[in-house]
Amino acid sequence: MIKLIKSTFHREAETRRALAEFVLRADMLSMGEQCRTFEQAFALRQGRRHAVFVGNGSVANLLLVQALLNEGRLRRGDRVGFSALTWPTNVMPLLQLGLEPVPVDCALDTLNVSPDTLEPCVAGLRALFLTNVLGFCDDLPALRVMCEDHGVLLLEDNCEALGSRTAGTQLGNFSLASTFSFFVGHHLSTVEGGMVCTDDDELHERLVVSRAHGWDRDLPPERRARLRAEAGVDDFHARYTFHDLASNFRPTELNGFIGNRQLRHWDEIVETRAAHFARFSQAMAGNADFHPYDLSHMDLVSNFAMPVVCRTPELAGKYRAEFEAAGVEIRPVVAGDITRQPFYRRHVRDAPACPVAGLVHGNGFYFGNNPDLTGDETAVLCELLGG
Ligand SMILES: Cc1ncc(COP(=O)(O)O)c(C=O)c1O
Repeated sequence: MIKLIKSTFHREAETRRALAEFVLRADMLSMGEQCRTFEQAFALRQGRRHAVFVGNGSVANLLLVQALLNEGRLRRGDRVGFSALTWPTNVMPLLQLGLEPVPVDCALDTLNVSPDTLEPCVAGLRALFLTNVLGFCDDLPALRVMCEDHGVLLLEDNCEALGSRTAGTQLGNFSLASTFSFFVGHHLSTVEGGMVCTDDDELHERLVVSRAHGWDRDLPPERRARLRAEAGVDDFHARYTFHDLASNFRPTELNGFIGNRQLRHWDEIVETRAAHFARFSQAMAGNADFHPYDLSHMDLVSNFAMPVVCRTPELAGKYRAEFEAAGVEIRPVVAGDITRQPFYRRHVRDAPACPVAGLVHGNGFYFGNNPDLTGDETAVLCELLGG
């Protein structure tokens, strides 16, 4: 069986051993030094000023939207665009926090929102929460300019695209803020884990406060002192003073410890997946049964699952059956067209049609792209892709 997820960690055995030793000797297992170190190292590696570590990618999205509401940069009822082809917990925070989600279709050759698909709905958006789907992107520099021209806050859900690059820049660095997931099977695994990155000091403060109950104790001393002065609280009451709407989205030291270990393998993980992606792309290239991708604008594509979009539903049925018969675990391409999901229909009436996301929903599937795929496994996958 070629499973979607082959292991919990990169360098599984040594990571588990190191984790066991850490648990035995650590004084404290709730969020502390390991998490702070991971945040700083991740921010540096990603090339962002701030990184805020949280329990998973889904709450990274929820926290980001909550922090923007707390800051007043988003207001309840604002229209927020999102990629119709995405994961549910990209759009769920918009519904949960009282924003109006506006689905934006994807382009067939990149599976991502493009300037052309954004154009008809950009006017009237307050923000665009873009997903960089499966390590791919469309013309991100042009999308950024379009958002700037229309006064739209650009946010990136980069949970599927760590390490991919376009226009000389890592995905996740084109926006006001970006989110990451460290769930098992993603590029970096901390078992469960997520991150919000931003270069904006004010937003960073809001994120830190909203991550843990709304209190200020995780802020640097000078920012904590300012908030306390603004709230007019004495030192005693400051210990339990809650400045803004929040929840508890914290990770643990176990996640932080694993993150610090896995970060050492960033290049190896990203590059091995990129090399597999290149092989899969080559194998698909001669097969007219699939819609081809055009990712020539990207410097590096690294994904954790390889999407395949067939030209007809019949071909999709044929290839899904062949992959499964060969023992390959497959799934729909992310959550397909989100506007077709039951939760979306229950909460949103009259969603506009997203024909390309619909086609991917109907005719697509993906299989895992793990760094530890063996040569034999990649050969089997390439043969299947060749048709
Ligand atoms: C685009 C996207 N956003 C958010 C998430 C949620 O991340 P997590 O599984 O860490 O909650 C995922 C998960 O795969 C995802 O693909």
